[in-house]
Formats: sequence, structure tokens, C-alpha cells
Amino acid sequence: MYRTHTCGELRIDHVGQTVTLAGWVQRTRKMGGMSFIDLRDRYGITQLVIDESSSKELNDMASGLGREYVIQAIGVVEERHSKNAKIPTGDIEIKLTEINMLNEAQTPPFTIEDESDGGEELRAKYRYIDLRRNPLKKALSLRHKMAHETRNYLDSKDFMEIETPYLIKSTPEGARDFVVPSRMNPGEFYALPQSPQQYKQLLMVAGYDRYFQIVRCFRDEDLRADRQPEFTQIDCEMSFVEREDVLNTFEGLAKHLFKNVLGMEFKEQFPRMSYADAMGFYGSDKPDIRFGMKINDLTGVAKGHNFSVFDDAPYIGGIVVEGIASYTRKQIDELTEWVKRPQVGAKGLVYIRISEEGIKSSVDKFFTHDDLKKIADGMGAGVGDMIFIMSGIKTKTQVALGTLRIEMGNRLGLRDPKVFAPLWVCDFPLLEWDDETNRFYAMHHPFTSPKPEDLDKFYSNRKEDLELVSANAYDFVLNGTEVGGGSIRIHNSNIQKRMFEVLGMTDEEAQYKFGFLMNAFKFGAPPHGGIAFGFDRFCSLFGGQDTIRDYIAFPKNNTGRDMMADAPSRIDEMQMNELFLKSVAPEKTK
Ligand code: AMO
Repeated sequence: MYRTHTCGELRIDHVGQTVTLAGWVQRTRKMGGMSFIDLRDRYGITQLVIDESSSKELNDMASGLGREYVIQAIGVVEERHSKNAKIPTGDIEIKLTEINMLNEAQTPPFTIEDESDGGEELRAKYRYIDLRRNPLKKALSLRHKMAHETRNYLDSKDFMEIETPYLIKSTPEGARDFVVPSRMNPGEFYALPQSPQQYKQLLMVAGYDRYFQIVRCFRDEDLRADRQPEFTQIDCEMSFVEREDVLNTFEGLAKHLFKNVLGMEFKEQFPRMSYADAMGFYGSDKPDIRFGMKINDLTGVAKGHNFSVFDDAPYIGGIVVEGIASYTRKQIDELTEWVKRPQVGAKGLVYIRISEEGIKSSVDKFFTHDDLKKIADGMGAGVGDMIFIMSGIKTKTQVALGTLRIEMGNRLGLRDPKVFAPLWVCDFPLLEWDDETNRFYAMHHPFTSPKPEDLDKFYSNRKEDLELVSANAYDFVLNGTEVGGGSIRIHNSNIQKRMFEVLGMTDEEAQYKFGFLMNAFKFGAPPHGGIAFGFDRFCSLFGGQDTIRDYIAFPKNNTGRDMMADAPSRIDEMQMNELFLKSVAPEKTK
């Protein structure tokens, strides 16, 4: 037997017992005639001790131990003289009688401490060593618990976990597909699924009326802190449901997770917000509602003062930032430069400062004191506050104000990761016009149904009508992150056909790409709808982090590489020939 206990298990009531532990040497130190070894495993750290009375052989063995050596240690549990309250095993130590070397180790390239001295790249290359650190162990164990509780909840609600294929037909809409060449079908390719969307809908046609899957999805898109090329969804679908049924069922899942993973009770219903309000008040379709600072529409009050920037703008909006009236000119200038960066895209920033000395603004030339007071009062701003105003094209300006709002929230510490503010955003537009390609795209995906009351507009050929069609779609938003998205689906083959037409597909194209789904709809498709949660995002938010990388055991870096295995890589000539492939990529120069 390699071990009787783990390194996180022994307490004061084990004193006197002979135990065997196995693990990695975290650190060794000598003090007087004593040697101490911190032995670590997944469960914790236990202190081992060798004193002068121990054999020379044992002392020599201890002196030869290096960091990360794997050993088995046998000894007796004793109460410590100087206890360590910081670790659960801190009341005891093991007086060693025997050490067995299980494996030596090279010196690790970085320290295995909570705050390691290794840079990101080095730690990615040696991910299996990085995974020994506590923050990563905590992250992966949270992920495990989330998956376990998700299965518990959905199983209790009669959902069946069904696997769908990973080698599917390429039907890109949204992100690019990752494709896989088929040896047995020369010149043809599978795609890896961006989500199991069509398969879960086919399962509804097949009568499996409550499906879920914790499933890997693949998208070849630009990466960010909360985006990986392969990521995991809690993917769900239900039959014979309306929007409310779906929202209630999955609000239940979120509440179950909050309660069973974080010990937090949410008694009230999560707020629901329309897309139009989310954009109008927060400049984002994923508003962070942990703090206020809502956007005010000032188009009416701010025009007509001979300030051409405002007078010529279709929209003027502003936010009140409480308590920063003492901002210096330099700080305001810095913020003005910040909003002008392409990532924010504002043309400029007008301020109104309300302090004990009175009201001062960057547009004093155009606005009287009373004009400014009226704006400030209308926005609920008082002494000590600052108002920031932007103007321009409506949506663009709202988004820029929303970005500034989040930035101010960050600067003022209003976005505490331990506070959770979930909400549903509903009533998205069905379609989004793209000027570059001169066509509509589905805002969610092409299987989302238009709201029944908008069907007339959906069948209209006028762009202005189509732009106004609302989708029966909803997103689950947590702390400014889109964690989940779903919709009530089209289950009628004619409406589905019309959708493909609106998206600019010919009948042949639609038949070639989605024929199997449209045919299936002719064989008794029930009304259905569903949702998918980004599981990695859900976990990282629960863990209080912005980046999902630590919640994935072996993630890719931001250029999509696996730094440890050095993938992707070229394949040899024979493999290429078998797959009927020829590369035209330039040779890589390292
Ligand atoms: P959607 O495309 O909105 O919907 O994806 C659902 C959720 O998946 C997460 N997500 C990602 N997480 C990490 N890395 C990525 N690259 C990434 N892309 C998306 C987000 C998102 O909210 N089939 C539909 C769902 C449905 O309609 O039921 C779908 O995939 O948290």
C-alpha cells in the first residue's frame, strides 16, 4: 500500500498513529539538528520531521531530497511544538522512521507556490507542473463541482444526457469552422461542431423532450480572455415549451449552482431586461448591473445651445460618476484620450463637474449655469459628482458610454467579483445588417424563431421592416459577461426556409447545408427551445476571475497554440498524401 492517508488529512486526533504518506517534496529545511520536509499532494501539505535521534541513513536520505522528488514517508503522528494555523494539518507533524524514494525530479522551472515566480509562457509550457499549484487545483475542483451539480439538477428535472457527434458537416454561420479531412472520402471534410445546435433540435424531433450535454465546442475565432478555440457548453433543449418555461428551468439551474457551489441563496426572480433597455441604459447587451451609473438620453436637453458638436449629432448621452468631482484636469484629459482609443471609439468627452465651488464644464461657452444645472438635476447628479457626455451615432455612442461606464466601475472598485448580479436579456433583434457583405446575418443563429407578432415584417422584403423583427431569444448575463444564450426555435419548415432566404441563401444552398434539418421538420417537429451556457465562463465567474484559462486543465494560448505539446504542427508527407492534401503555406522560420 503506497499510503494510508493523504497529505491534507491528519489532525490532532491522529497523534500516536503510525501512518504512511506519499507525495511531492515542496521544501526541505534544516534547523539545528532537525530536518523538516513539507510533503505535498492534491489534498494539502504535511510536515515531516527527522531529529538527531533518527538514524544516519534517514538523515542522509533527507539531505539528498530535492524539490518535487516523489517519496513515500512512514512515521508516527506527533503534536507540533510550534503550530501553524495557516494550514489544516498545522497542529501535527510526522516523526519519520522511513523514507522511500519513488522518483527523483529535475528542479522545476518555477516555484510551486500560490504566487509563482514563473512567467505565463513558461508555466504554459510546463502546464503539468503549474497544475500542482493551489490556485489551479482550486479552479479545477470548482469546475468539477459545477459539472457535478449541473448533472444533479438536470437529472432531477428529467433531462437526459445524450452525446452528439464531433465530426459533422461544415455549415459555418458566425465563427469559422475547424475542419478535418476525410481519408476515406478524398477531398471532403468534416467540421468540428461550433455547438450541437442542429443535433439537439433533431433530438427534439426524435422525441427526447429534455436533452442536455456538457459538451466541447470548437470555434476558429479571435481569442480573448473569455474565449478559447475549444470550450465547453452546458447545452440544453426542451420540447413543448415557451420562453418562460425555458427561463424558469434554467434560472433554477443557476440558482442551484449558486446555492450548492457558492452557498448563496437567490430568492427573488432574476431581473429581465429588453435588449433595447440594455443598450439604452448600459450601452451593452450584457450589462453589469452590480452598479448604477446608467446612461441618460440627453438628446432633447443638450441640443440648441449653438454647440455644433451636439447640435449636429443624432444622439447625445451621459453618465453621472458619483464622488469624482475632485478629478484633476490631468485626470480628465487622460480619460478623454482613453475614450478616443479605437477600442472605445468616441470622438471626445464633455464633462460637467459639480463641486462646492459651483458647476464647471468643458462647454461653459455654450451653456449657462442654469442650463448645466438643469441637465445635472435631470440626471440626479449632486455636489461631488461628475457628468460625462458623448454624442454621435446612437448605438455607437451608447456602446462607447457603456465602455466608459465599465472603466469607471473598475477604477472606482464597483465591480466586486464576490458580488453576483445575474439577469436575463430578452427580445434581441432577429437580424443584423452587415454593410460590408451587404446582407443580413442572424444575430443569434438561423434557427431562432422570430416573435409571432413580427411575422408580417419577417415576410416583408423591405430592409427597414426586417431590421425591426424581434427574436424569441434570450441571454443569461452575469456581472457583465454573457454566460448563456438561447431561443425558442423555428419548428416549421416554411419559416425555416424563409429564414435562409432572408440570410441570402439560395434554395439549393440551404438544401445543401441544412437539408437534413428542414426535412426533419416535415416529420413531426414539436415546438421547442433551449439554451447553452458557456461552462468555462460560468466557472471562472464563480471563481471570481476574468480569464477562463485557469478553469481549463490544458488551455490554448492567445494565438491558439498548445504551448506544452507545441500544437498545431505540420504533419508528415505520408499523412498529407493519405488525406489528399497539399500545403501552400510558407515554410515556418523560427
Ligand atoms: P452561443 O454561440 O451564444 O449559443 O454560445 C453559448 C455560450 O457559449 C459561450 N461561448 C464561449 N466560451 C468560451 N470560448 C468561446 N470561444 C465561446 N463562444 C461562446 C458563451 C455563450 O453565451 N447553440 C447556441 C445555444 C442555443 O441557442 O441553445 C450557441 O452556441 O458563454
